[in-house]
Amino acid sequence: MSGDARKIAEGLEHLSGFGNEHSSEAVPGALPEGRNAPQRAPFGLYAEQLSGTAFTEPRAENRRSWLYRIRPSAAHPAFTRTGNGSLRTAPFTQTVPDPNRLRWNPLPEPARGTDFLAGLWTLGGNGDVAQRTGMAVHLYHATASMERVFGDADGELLIVPERGGLLLRTEFGLLHVEPGHIALIPRGVRFRVDLLEDSARGYVCENYGAAFRLPDLGPIGANGLANARDFRAPVAAYEDVEGPVEVVNKFCGNLWSATYDHSPLDVVAWHGNHVPYAYDLRRFNVMGTVSYDHPDPSIFTVLTSPSDTPGLAGVDFVVFAPRWLVGEDTFRPPYFHRNVMSEYMGLIEGAYDAKAEGFVPGGGSLHNMMSAHGPDRETFDRASAAELRPQKIDDGLAFMFETRWPVSLTPQAARAEHLQQDYDDVWQGLERHFQPLH
Ligand SMILES: [Fe+2]
Repeated sequence: MSGDARKIAEGLEHLSGFGNEHSSEAVPGALPEGRNAPQRAPFGLYAEQLSGTAFTEPRAENRRSWLYRIRPSAAHPAFTRTGNGSLRTAPFTQTVPDPNRLRWNPLPEPARGTDFLAGLWTLGGNGDVAQRTGMAVHLYHATASMERVFGDADGELLIVPERGGLLLRTEFGLLHVEPGHIALIPRGVRFRVDLLEDSARGYVCENYGAAFRLPDLGPIGANGLANARDFRAPVAAYEDVEGPVEVVNKFCGNLWSATYDHSPLDVVAWHGNHVPYAYDLRRFNVMGTVSYDHPDPSIFTVLTSPSDTPGLAGVDFVVFAPRWLVGEDTFRPPYFHRNVMSEYMGLIEGAYDAKAEGFVPGGGSLHNMMSAHGPDRETFDRASAAELRPQKIDDGLAFMFETRWPVSLTPQAARAEHLQQDYDDVWQGLERHFQPLH
């Protein structure tokens, strides 16, 4: 938390677009022209490639960036194990997978001086980090800016702030996000989180699988949903800091620490398409019915991480953004369903149109594969009797991490005091209305 961080955050420039071949230099002339690894890089910088995909993956998939830095990343002492705090990693095998519908209240208040990394608390997930499949659901609640630097070799981090703005200081430069925005830190990219208020909390999807990308649009056409131009990448900015800096590295589920003699956020120029980015969810171009029924919620996909089966995502990030409901002779809230996918939902602000109460900002629900869910009784009764005039849903911003594999809980989530014990009750009292003709 600092006035300086706020001032810096609000004055940032950025590069626009998703998946672009960007380039940026904090010092004019620092970026080599015409080659990636000149015999001597400008200004005595070191050239270094950061791979986001294997060298040999198809061009459309391939991600890498070239970094021109004061010292190469290789210049560091040995990492040694440090405590994992409340951070856990797949495979999640410590609890019995639970077919019940589950819902949590927000995380309890953390101790003073809890930074973003210490504030991460793992709810559960799936897959296997060593196989680079699956994902983890984390929440965070922090009360202090990070002094140390973090990098996650296990996956990319999709950060969904719910309370409190963040200034992300990354190897590629600075990003500013507020509640209602998302930020993505690619696998392995080092960063530090400054809080812009006294505390910050939100959600993180750690994606062990293929990098998030924009979904195909099919018959929607060339525009719509999250438009590529609304994504913000940082411009190059570097720290020229000589002196001890703790760097924490998450590797196959454990945290490892080393004390560098300089800041690793020392990239003076870079180019490439493997970059951190931010996006304002209110820019999402919502598609929906203008006749009857509403589309499946896949129509709200912001980003998708494909798996090895076409159309079957390792994880999708979906947003329920403000929108008009105009369907005629249509039950307008999300319908009752059982899904082969597993759904973790969170709420950034306001209310969600399928749940009258109990689902609060900072909380979350888990509907694992084939668990029956849908509107609560109060919502069903109201929506079944509502006069179907055009209606604007504009008081909420909910999201979903939807994954092809069931989400297993960590013991701390299964036994949490903030796990609601009465969630099933929202579907009690759904009376029979069936009246066959005699
Ligand atoms: Fe669902």
